[in-house]
Amino acid sequence: MRTLALYIVIFGCITAALIFFSATGGPFFVEEQYNRNRPSKPQGPPISHSESHAWQTQREWIYKYPRDARNYGLDELQCQVAFPDLYKEVDRAAAWWKERGGVTEREIDVGWRGDGIVRAMIYDNQLYVIDAHGVFDHNHRPRALATLHSLHRAVTAHSGPLPNVEFTMTDHDAPLIDQEDLNHTTWGYARLAHQENLWLMPDFGYWGWPNVGLRSYSELQQNLAAEEEDFLDKIPQIVWRGAVEGLGSHDVRAGLLAASANQPWSDILPLDWSNATNIATRLLGMEDHCAYQFLAQTEGNTYSGRLKSLLNCHSVLLSHKLSWIEHFHHLLQPSGPDQNYVQTKRDFSDLPKKMRSLLNPSNILATQRIADNARAAFRERYLTPAAEACYWRALIRAWADVQTFEVQGWKEKLVEDPTTGRKKLKRSMRGAPFEAYAIMEEVEWELPAKARRVCIDE
Ligand SMILES: *[C@@H]1O[C@H](CO)[C@@H](O)[C@H](O)[C@H]1NC(C)=O
Ligand SMILES: *[C@@H]1O[C@H](CO)[C@@H](O)[C@H](O)[C@H]1NC(C)=O
Repeated sequence: MRTLALYIVIFGCITAALIFFSATGGPFFVEEQYNRNRPSKPQGPPISHSESHAWQTQREWIYKYPRDARNYGLDELQCQVAFPDLYKEVDRAAAWWKERGGVTEREIDVGWRGDGIVRAMIYDNQLYVIDAHGVFDHNHRPRALATLHSLHRAVTAHSGPLPNVEFTMTDHDAPLIDQEDLNHTTWGYARLAHQENLWLMPDFGYWGWPNVGLRSYSELQQNLAAEEEDFLDKIPQIVWRGAVEGLGSHDVRAGLLAASANQPWSDILPLDWSNATNIATRLLGMEDHCAYQFLAQTEGNTYSGRLKSLLNCHSVLLSHKLSWIEHFHHLLQPSGPDQNYVQTKRDFSDLPKKMRSLLNPSNILATQRIADNARAAFRERYLTPAAEACYWRALIRAWADVQTFEVQGWKEKLVEDPTTGRKKLKRSMRGAPFEAYAIMEEVEWELPAKARRVCIDE
């Protein structure tokens, strides 16, 4: 009886909330995001009445982990309800460009980058590769392919219309060649604070990075959910492995080694990639890191792709203030009740003090709370495959919102009829559909196609 009464009360509250929200035009965050995500000049098929009706009735929908975590096809409203704070970077970039009149066709040129850049379009919900520019060596190839596959997954999993867009994306760690050259824009994995013209996309690791053992991002999450130990049963040390020499952030990494030398709470070791014994004895897989209570995060040449993997651990991350921004960094909280990591000085000189405090038995609940917050915020919400797909689509919509040109899906070409010799104009789509690109890794090819030798290494 008591349960029934409780249900009646809850039902009453929901009904009251629904009446209130419909009276005021919807919860403010839903309304705001809804407007943001509607292209001002809608392109593609119009939204049908039945679809807008579906949005109304879905207002009660709530995100549930793990039920929805691997759903690549959440609709627009579900994406807002599940991940309300995810879209800061797309909003920022769109606002920046709007203030400057929007993106023009000049911005979809690839010539300025040299290599590692792809020009692509989404037309009638189909992904087309227009120009794959220098993405075929052992470094660029897996990154470009992974990123295109991720984008394609987000496009095809979506049941609603997406605006037509044409854009470029680069797989370089640093999207711009000259960090001060703000004359070019593209979609990149990371940016510096002053590179406000750049658009951030999820990096290739959300598909997979098999070259370093990350077979698929979703599998990493699955393994952790199944295998990870209780926080209190984990090794009470801080772990880190990495190269130290010859990187942009040498000072950070050298500082970490110095601050942790000979400490009982440290399992921090440098890697020497030129020494096979060193790698065989020291290298840890991503999941092995999660066996520790504490994780150190350092930038490398630019951003560090391992951060998202480390944030998947139910552990406490310690990181210096990051110079390179990825699409989710604004969700890192260094203090307050939602604290989900511990911030250190750039040279980690305060690491011993921080570790002593975190390991103090009287602080153990507070320490575990940071790990709990991180798991709830990242592994179970903002770094799920579902969130990744939502982010891609928000990026597409935001770009469309400030795109000042009409995307030309078709091109015309004079072709000769082989029997009559007569010439006529023939229309065909520009570039190659991703379905074909994924197999041919070319935008154009002769028939019959030549066998292609896949490069695993140069
Ligand atoms: C950016 O463009 C402006 C105007 O076209 C030019 O004066 C400037 O030198 C360019 N900057 C770089 C770094 O290329
Ligand atoms: C290679 O690494 C191993 C293990 O770290 C180390 O004992 C050995 O001295 C290294 N060899 C060289 C040539 O640096």
